[in-house]
Amino acid sequence: MIGGKKKCIGLIFGGESNEHEVSISSAKTVFQAFNSEINKQRFTIKAFYISKFGDWLDSDLSEKILVGEIKNNTTKIRGILNQERINFLDGIKFKNVDVWFPLLHGSNGEDGSIHGLLKFTKKPLVGCGILGSALGMDKILMKSIFSNLKLPQVNYLVFQDEDFNNEEIKNKVINEILKKLNFPVFVKPSNSGSSLGISKVKNESEILQALEKAREVDQRILVEEGLEVREIECGIIGKSKLLTSEIGEVNYESDWYDYDSKYYSNNQIIIPAEIDPKITKEIKKIAIQSCRALNISGFARVDFFLEKFTNKILLNEINTIPGFTKNSMFPMLWKASGLNIEQLVAKLVNISLDL
Ligand SMILES: Nc1ncnc2c1ncn2[C@@H]1O[C@H](COP(=O)(O)OP(=O)(O)O)[C@@H](O)[C@H]1O
Ligand SMILES: [Mg+2]
Repeated sequence: MIGGKKKCIGLIFGGESNEHEVSISSAKTVFQAFNSEINKQRFTIKAFYISKFGDWLDSDLSEKILVGEIKNNTTKIRGILNQERINFLDGIKFKNVDVWFPLLHGSNGEDGSIHGLLKFTKKPLVGCGILGSALGMDKILMKSIFSNLKLPQVNYLVFQDEDFNNEEIKNKVINEILKKLNFPVFVKPSNSGSSLGISKVKNESEILQALEKAREVDQRILVEEGLEVREIECGIIGKSKLLTSEIGEVNYESDWYDYDSKYYSNNQIIIPAEIDPKITKEIKKIAIQSCRALNISGFARVDFFLEKFTNKILLNEINTIPGFTKNSMFPMLWKASGLNIEQLVAKLVNISLDL
């Protein structure tokens, strides 16, 4: 490397959330990208795996998961951890790490927890800080900030800590949904990801079950009016200046973009999305506005709905640690925008270092 020693990247993956497996796939892609011929000249990489039980593995064992030498079979891993268990801030050799790259999805990873922990190490990290992460993870707060800024969104209602076993409360909630929203509606836990805990509800009889499913993930629940939409996504990178990628569209065969259609089907990704250039421009503008509003920088993927027939743009959500698997939209968007995966990961480190 010109003018300095190689930067050591601390790649953190796995995690306790229900998106554990997705995180491992994402980390494999990023690990390979840092180990490419070009990046090996600038970077070394240390991997840190967090099991589903919340235990950290040291970097030698973590790397074995990334190269497939150890299967992330939870029972086996648990066995290893019983011998090799380490308490992060006591035991892990993080002093060598120059830049953290948390690649955890969902709660305890994308919600600011890990960002808070890493702050104690006084090392920069790829992605945004505690506030942006927490806001980006919480659909209710994210939406209320977007509402304040009058950014376009679907109609929605919020229910917090409601006891659906209480007949009166249950009826009050159901009546409010019937009165204020049109079917279908989407019932969502405020904090989740990968469509887990979300139901599409077509009539009154399905509401209670959907609320209960969402409540298993989070006591705070969002109910949104469901529209017929195209799904459009935009990548963001940068710090003081945010850059937008090309816009992509994802097409799937299922009724909506649920967990299985996200990870187990052959979706069609179209980049750039075939939409009116004026709409593309507006989407990019809103993508930057929305990230600024939530204090999100580093990298993010901003997801939109484009209402079929009317072409109305609706902001859906921001993902502060977008999927990085081989089939993920985020690396594809940047590839189409001139940054291949090796260049993208290097760029993300440069951004975190203000280079
Ligand atoms: N209001 C809505 N109208 C139409 N489809 C929706 C709506 N809300 C969610 N969906 C469908 O559900 C998917 C997951 O919802 P989303 O809020 O993005 O949750 P997650 O954070 O788990 O990705 C969306 O990609 C879309 O297919
Ligand atoms: Mg989504």
